[in-house]
Amino acid sequence: MLDQTRLRGDIPAYDDPTRPTPVFLDSAGSSLPPRIVLDTTIAHLRREAEVGGYRAANERLDDLAAVKSAIGTLINADPSGIALSDSSSRSWADFFYSVPLAPGDRILISGSDYASNAIAALQRARAAGAVVEAIPSDESGQLDINALGELLDERVKLVSLVHAPTNGGLVNPVAKVTELAHEVGALVLLDACQSVGQIPLDIIEFGVDALSATGRKWLRGPRGTGFLYVRPELATTMEPQRLDLHSAEWTGPAEYRLAADASRFEFWECDVAARLGLGAAVRYLLDLGPENVYAAVAANAAHLRAELPRIPGVTVRDLGARHSGIVSFTVEGVESTAVRDRLTGHDITVTVSHARSTLLDMSARRLDSVVRASPHCFVTVAELDRFLAAVADLAPGR
Ligand SMILES: Cc1ncc(COP(=O)(O)O)c(C=O)c1O
Repeated sequence: MLDQTRLRGDIPAYDDPTRPTPVFLDSAGSSLPPRIVLDTTIAHLRREAEVGGYRAANERLDDLAAVKSAIGTLINADPSGIALSDSSSRSWADFFYSVPLAPGDRILISGSDYASNAIAALQRARAAGAVVEAIPSDESGQLDINALGELLDERVKLVSLVHAPTNGGLVNPVAKVTELAHEVGALVLLDACQSVGQIPLDIIEFGVDALSATGRKWLRGPRGTGFLYVRPELATTMEPQRLDLHSAEWTGPAEYRLAADASRFEFWECDVAARLGLGAAVRYLLDLGPENVYAAVAANAAHLRAELPRIPGVTVRDLGARHSGIVSFTVEGVESTAVRDRLTGHDITVTVSHARSTLLDMSARRLDSVVRASPHCFVTVAELDRFLAAVADLAPGR
């Protein structure tokens, strides 16, 4: 069980006692960081201003290394398999663009893959003479394992699997996908952008070849942070598509040597303050206990999923047998953007997920957009009820 008083006390956004607490339901967008994240980041920016960025970074080399250790602990990976980056898409692309592709090769993407991943797949397929094919979903809306089995053959070089999509509560199976893909020699790249930080996950159990994640969402780290996990065998053998003097060493006039681990997927320059902030965020989560956090997120999301359908005109749009903390819905006769804007007027933050972000799934369901409410563990039931009352106020029955 989490201590709500401590959780709330740790959040600078709730510091002002004269202001009614804002209802924050956008951890799938960019969450509210705990104070330690803010303090760590700002303290380092101040130190950079005092002594310059290089000396400031040199003073924190151990702490920077500890960022990868903390991430490794969180996902059960060796830190040598972690490459830090500035976003989930960057990490995803760093791996994806480094997978060799030849004419006739096939790339499989899941039905609710994120637009950035699909666009990159289409671009590479066009350049290489490869093809991109979507894996059908089953009747629950999650990736159809049987259909995947039928699609797989030796020409499939990579399966792009989204763990939890951006536009709803679906959670896709992972271990079975990996097992099937590996039977034909295909790599599995897991987009865990919406799951890392809310759903406890174990990279060994998943068996994926690579995983991408972001810092600012459920992990509650600073913006402009993310990471890539690469399976140890690949982290030491795969040649990244782009290199600099950090990912490789210039060893002779015509020679270079790749870094010995996943840092071959990193460039030298980075936002050190943000990375230290990310480390603080991951340690904060580890301290709370990822299982406790998930239990609280799941309970909040379940409350919304139970109550929203009671409001006339409101339809919950979540797919899948198992659910994440993202609750998606539409309100009959009211545009999703109007729902968002009217809620903002009550200091309630939700976002809208548009069809263009998850085109295949949204077109199949003939949805232009959904409202996305994503309550983290720190949101109280009273706040959820304020949100429900505000939605009821704008629903068509009123
Ligand atoms: C499922 C999913 N994948 C990838 C991304 C991209 O993350 P980033 O903006 O950190 O690159 C998002 C962002 O919303 C997402 O929801």
